[in-house]
Amino acid sequence: MYKKEISKAVINRLPRYYRYLGDLLEKDVVRISSKELSEKMRVTASQIRQDLNNFGGFGQQGYGYNVEYLHSEIGKILGLDTKYNVIIIGAGNLGQALANYTDFERRGFYVRSIFDISPALIGTEIRGITVRANEELEEYIRNNKVDIAAITVPKTKAPGVANELVKWGVKGIWNFAPTDLNLPKDVTVENVHLADSLMKLSYRLSGKREEMK
Ligand code: NAI
Repeated sequence: MYKKEISKAVINRLPRYYRYLGDLLEKDVVRISSKELSEKMRVTASQIRQDLNNFGGFGQQGYGYNVEYLHSEIGKILGLDTKYNVIIIGAGNLGQALANYTDFERRGFYVRSIFDISPALIGTEIRGITVRANEELEEYIRNNKVDIAAITVPKTKAPGVANELVKWGVKGIWNFAPTDLNLPKDVTVENVHLADSLMKLSYRLSGKREEMK
């Protein structure tokens, strides 16, 4: 749809715009100027204009942005006008937390099935979804449309699990295991590492400590 190459920095900012505009919509705000949006989001107005110009603007001189329209257009750019079938591999602490989080569905991400190797977990239910044995994984993927597989298994198991998922046809990997995955180019991987975020927080805190000395 959008042929122009969009920088990663812009893409990284879009979910925040989307979330913010969603909050405004919930408060029945119909339109917002780039100045107001910039004050609320603490991004310069010119940054917002530049970001949105990548996708053809959306703003009108003297009017600002129509919140509903902008929200829906950014949603389309992010691919949120699609429904995604998600499976989770690893039904431990993190896998269960993801499965229990209902808000992903609001964005179009539906957890359809969960897999594990532990006999203690297989057959149990998480939010009405039965944990299946890993042996069923290949057949499940071949018979059901799986858009995204979340990997929440121990780090040492993650590369093997990822390779199998890809071999069976999964093209989207949401990787939570703290390890890099080497997968073919046509597979899209999004890594989520809370510990990296904590280390960044630690760096910034230690910077502040230095400044205060
Ligand atoms: P956990 O030990 O509670 O759960 C791991 C689950 O994976 C267990 O139920 C285990 O039976 C299952 N498992 C092991 N091998 C498997 C395989 N081959 N196929 C399917 N299931 C398998 O661990 P926890 O706390 O849920 O962490 C899971 C992963 O997520 C770890 O790699 C951990 O380092 C990572 N993690 C990442 C975070 C992040 O910010 N990205 C935060 C917390 C954990």
